[in-house]
Amino acid sequence: MSNPFREGMRRRRTPDACVLVIFGVGDLTQRKLLPALYRLAMEGELNPNFSIVGVGRRDWSDEGFRDFAEDSVKTSKETGEFDQQTWDGFQEGLFFVGGPFDQSETFRKLKEKLEEVSRQRDTGGNVVFYLATPPSVFAPIAELLGEQGLQEEGSNFWRRLVIEKPFGVDLESARELNAHIHKTWEEHQIYRIDHYLGKETVQNLMAMRFGNVIFEPLWNRQYIEHIQITASEDLGMEGRGAYYEEAGIMRDMLQNHILQMFSLVAMEPPANFDANAIRDEKVKVLKSITPIPKERVGEFAVRGQYGKGTLYGESVAGYREEKGVAPDSVTPTYVALKLEVNNWRWQGVPFFLRTAKRLPKKVTEIAVVFKNPPSDIFPNKAERNVLAIRIQPDEGMSLKFNSKVPGQDNYLREVVMDFKYDAFGQLTGTPYGRLLLDSMLGDATLFPREDEVELAWQLVDGILEAWKAPAPEFPNYKAGTWGPDAADELIGPNRRWRRL
Ligand code: BG6
Repeated sequence: MSNPFREGMRRRRTPDACVLVIFGVGDLTQRKLLPALYRLAMEGELNPNFSIVGVGRRDWSDEGFRDFAEDSVKTSKETGEFDQQTWDGFQEGLFFVGGPFDQSETFRKLKEKLEEVSRQRDTGGNVVFYLATPPSVFAPIAELLGEQGLQEEGSNFWRRLVIEKPFGVDLESARELNAHIHKTWEEHQIYRIDHYLGKETVQNLMAMRFGNVIFEPLWNRQYIEHIQITASEDLGMEGRGAYYEEAGIMRDMLQNHILQMFSLVAMEPPANFDANAIRDEKVKVLKSITPIPKERVGEFAVRGQYGKGTLYGESVAGYREEKGVAPDSVTPTYVALKLEVNNWRWQGVPFFLRTAKRLPKKVTEIAVVFKNPPSDIFPNKAERNVLAIRIQPDEGMSLKFNSKVPGQDNYLREVVMDFKYDAFGQLTGTPYGRLLLDSMLGDATLFPREDEVELAWQLVDGILEAWKAPAPEFPNYKAGTWGPDAADELIGPNRRWRRL
C-alpha cells in the first residue's frame, strides 16, 4: 500500500558511471561501506556500470574480494534481505589490487587495473578514491595517487578523494594533512567524511529550521534559554581500546559529530542549498564561538572516565580494564561542554554539549529549551517549553508545552506533541550510502570543508591543552550511569540535563 507521506517525492539523480576505489579492506569496509553500496544497488540508486576496486595488503584475486564482499553483505544488519539477483549484478563489478599503501608499485598496478575496468565496464574515467585506512597513510596515498597522475581530471571525466575521520589529531596535524593533500588535489575534489551528516535526521535540522516559519522566529536569544546536545552511547571499547587511548572522546566524537550538529542548529540561514553557501554559514558560527581561556577551561568543560558498573543488568568492565588501555590511563570517555556564541542571534544563550561512552543507553538528541513565560499568573509555575529533536533512535521531534489540567483550578501541566519519523515508513538508505552517493554525484554539501575542520580542532585543542594538567580522580563515573557529578554543576543551578 502506498504511504501518503511519501507521495510526490522526487526520485534522486543517478550518478555517472564510475569506479569507487576503496583503500583498506578492514572493519569499516566490511561493516559499513560494502553493505551500504549493496543496499544502494538494491534500491536502484547506482549507475548500472558502477564498479569497485578494493585495494589492500591481502593477497586476493578479484574472486577473493568478491567472497569477502558477499560475506560482509550477508552478515550486515544494514542490508535487509539478501537478494541473489542484485548480488549477481553487483559482484560482477568488483575487483581487487593487492599491495602496501606506501609503495609506488601498488599505485602503478592500480592505474593499470583502472584502465582495464574503465574499458570493460565503460566507466568513462570517473573515479572516487575512498581512504578507509588508518590515518597515518592518508597523506602517502594521496601523494602516490598523484605520482601516477590518477588525480588529474579531464573535460569529460572527474576524480575525487574521500577521506575518513579522524582528519588529523589536532589543529597542526590537520593543517599539515590539508597542506599535504593540496599539493596534489584541489579542494573541490576532496570530500571529508563525517557520517553524522549522512543521517536523515541531521539533514532534517535544516529542513525543519528553514523550511518552516514557526520555529525560526523563536530561534534566538529572545526566546531560547539554552540548548542541549547529547550523544550518549552505551557501548564501551568493543576492541578499539588502543585507538581510543589516542583519540579519547574529544577527538572521537566532539571534534566532528557533535560540532557538526551544533553548527547546523546554530548557523544562520544559507543563501541557497549550494555546498559552499551552507559551509560558509557553518564556518561563520564556528568562528563566533567565544574562545575559552586556558585558565578557565574548568568552568566550561567537564571530563570523565568510566569505571566498572552495571549496564542492562550485567556488570561491565571499567575503561582502564579494557583491552589496549593503560591501567592508569587518563583518557576521557566523557565530556560535557558549555559553549557561548558571540553573535546577535545567540549572545547570552549557552549551548551545553555532552557525549560519552558507557552511559545507560544510546541516544542522540538536541533539545531547545525556551525561556519561562514573562508573567506568572497561574497557581503553579509554568515549566519551560522544550523542542526535542531526536536524532536516533526513535527518530522524531517532540514539543513540550504547558496545558491547563481539566478542573476548576488553573493548574498547569506539561503535555507533549510528537512527530515520529517512521510516518514516512522505514528510513531508506544508510548514512554511508547517502554520503557515498553524494561523492559520486559531486555534491559536497554534506562534507565538512577544510576551514570547518580546522576551526573545530582549534576549539578542541584549547581544551585538550588545559587538560594536560592532572586529571580529576579517574574513574569518576560508573559504567551505566549518566556521568560525573561535576556535569550537573556545569549546567546548574537552574537548569538540568535532560533525562533521556
Ligand atoms: C564513530 C566513533 O565516529 O561514531 C565511534 O568513532 C562511535 O566511537 C560512532 O561509536 C557513533 O556513531 P553512531 O552513528 O552509531 O551514533
